[in-house]
Amino acid sequence: MARTIKIPGMVDPHVHLRGMEWDYKADFASETAAALAGGYWAIFDMPNTPPTTTDQTALDRKLTAMGRDAVCDWGIYFGASQADNTAVYAAIFNAVCGLKIYNNQTTGDLLIEDQVLRDRIYAAWPPPRVIAVHAEGQTVADILALVREYRTWTHFCHISTAEEIDLLRTAKADGLPVSVGVTPHHLFLTKMDVNCLGALGRMKPELKTQADQDALWAGIADGIVDVVESDHAPHTLAEKESDKPPFGVPGLETTLPLMCTALRDGRITETQLVDLLALNAQKIFKLTPGADTYTLVDIDAAYDIKRDNLRTKCGWSPFEGMRVVGAVREVWIRGTQVFDGENVLVASGFGQNLFGEQA
Ligand code: DOR
Ligand code: ZN
Repeated sequence: MARTIKIPGMVDPHVHLRGMEWDYKADFASETAAALAGGYWAIFDMPNTPPTTTDQTALDRKLTAMGRDAVCDWGIYFGASQADNTAVYAAIFNAVCGLKIYNNQTTGDLLIEDQVLRDRIYAAWPPPRVIAVHAEGQTVADILALVREYRTWTHFCHISTAEEIDLLRTAKADGLPVSVGVTPHHLFLTKMDVNCLGALGRMKPELKTQADQDALWAGIADGIVDVVESDHAPHTLAEKESDKPPFGVPGLETTLPLMCTALRDGRITETQLVDLLALNAQKIFKLTPGADTYTLVDIDAAYDIKRDNLRTKCGWSPFEGMRVVGAVREVWIRGTQVFDGENVLVASGFGQNLFGEQA
């Protein structure tokens, strides 16, 4: 008998769906369908793709497009910008899941390295909406100084090193309002894999050492890590195989099976799996899905990850060829069955913005 577990309201708080000017890479319809196939109830989209979600017009355009196309529930991050867009925050914070600040180099042009501007951003962003940060190494300490001052809930995205885990362990011990996300690629791949994967193994933060990866698993074991987030960042295969490959890998459809494989291998418990993929993100973003929003996953079904079986428009995976367990059998959202293991059962526009209306 196959063993099936029920996960209430899976949330991925860190995805890059593309769409609009980058819809040749991926679009809101294709990637929200990939989210359902990956077991997700809700996903939160990052602001770093053109037009960057850093003003009212760009936000309105994304809200409209997502409202029209999404098949799962969703949220949108507003992006902090070098040009200082803090004056807009009061008008938009209610319509978004949070604010994203890019504090280290990555895809897009939203990098903010000036601590004075970061301070102004923290001063302007209204709690209780979350601030999510891309921060690596020393920058984690720089951001923690602002959290200490302003006490705004801050989610540290894709933490990837032992040193960063240690900084955040101390921050949590000090009672700071912080949460920690790690990605499946940092949990299951190391820099050694770049030898085989080439550009398909290149993302920001980069893949790290085995010792760093061990620290992430230790962080899961002792509760420092709150969320496993995919950082789903599709680019076309042609772009990844070009002379200047962009950073980023898709992950929406491989995160749950990889974590089910970790469950089978005794690296996490079923409770940890549910916390890392659903309950902790619900708490951080103050969401309470009804009992009729859940995913059923067969944790005994074994298969190889293959690009032909993925729905993401980019059509590849850094995990291709890995043997995993965990097949999504059913996804239900607000009492409607939206995925049956093979087919998306709802029309474009079924998905709802979980973060209300604009002021
Ligand atoms: O590898 C990455 N790709 N890291 C990021 O932070 C952004 C993302 C993207 O948008 O391509
Ligand atoms: Zn990202």
